[in-house]
Amino acid sequence: MDRADVENDLEKVLLSQEQLHARLDELAAAIDADYAGKQLLLVGVLKGAVMVMADLVRRLHTDVQMDWMAVSSYGSGTKSSGVVRILKDLDTDLTGRHVLIVEDIIDSGLTLSWLLSNLRSRGPESVEIATMLRKPEAAKVEVDVRYVGFDIPNEFVVGYGLDYAERYRNLPFVGTLAPHVYGA
Ligand code: IMP
Ligand code: MG
Repeated sequence: MDRADVENDLEKVLLSQEQLHARLDELAAAIDADYAGKQLLLVGVLKGAVMVMADLVRRLHTDVQMDWMAVSSYGSGTKSSGVVRILKDLDTDLTGRHVLIVEDIIDSGLTLSWLLSNLRSRGPESVEIATMLRKPEAAKVEVDVRYVGFDIPNEFVVGYGLDYAERYRNLPFVGTLAPHVYGA
C-alpha cells in the first residue's frame, strides 16, 4: 500500500519510509552496542509493533529471540482507558532474561507502564523499552524509555503498523488522516 492508494484519506505524511529506516539503523546500532555479548529477548506488542519489530531485528547483530504479547488498552475509539487486559501472553519464561519491549507508539504511556511492571514481576535480569514513536504532550504517566525513534506532535497517526479501525497498518510511512475519515 502506498500514498496513491489512500490519497483521499490522507492529510499529510509525517515520517517517510526513508526517515523511519534511517532512524532504525541508528536504534539498531545503539541496541547492538548496549547488549554486546548478551542474549536478548524482544517482546513485541501486537499488532502495531509488527513492522518495527520486523525492520529492527533484521538490522541487529545481537543474538535475539522474539516473543509477542497482545494487550487491549482502549475501551473504544481513540482514547486510552488505562484498563489493560492481556489478550495473548508470552510463551517465554522471563526469569534471568534481558528483555526489550518493542512498541509502535507511546501515547498516554498507560499501556506501557502497566506492561513494564507486569514483566518486571516475572523475574527478568533487565527490562527496557524501544518505541518507534512517542507523543510527549500526551503523556499521563512518566515511562522511562531507553530507545525512541521519533517524538511526534499530539495527533492521531496511522501507518507503519498503526491503525485506525484496523486499517492503514500496511502503509510504509506514518501519516495523519483527513477529518472525513473519522466521520467528520
Ligand atoms: P497508550 O496507553 O495511550 O500509550 O496507548 C498505546 C497504544 O494506543 C498504542 O500501542 C497504539 O496501539 C494506540 N495508539 C496510541 N496513539 C495512536 C495513534 O496516534 N494512532 C494509532 N494508534 C495509537
Ligand atoms: Mg499498539
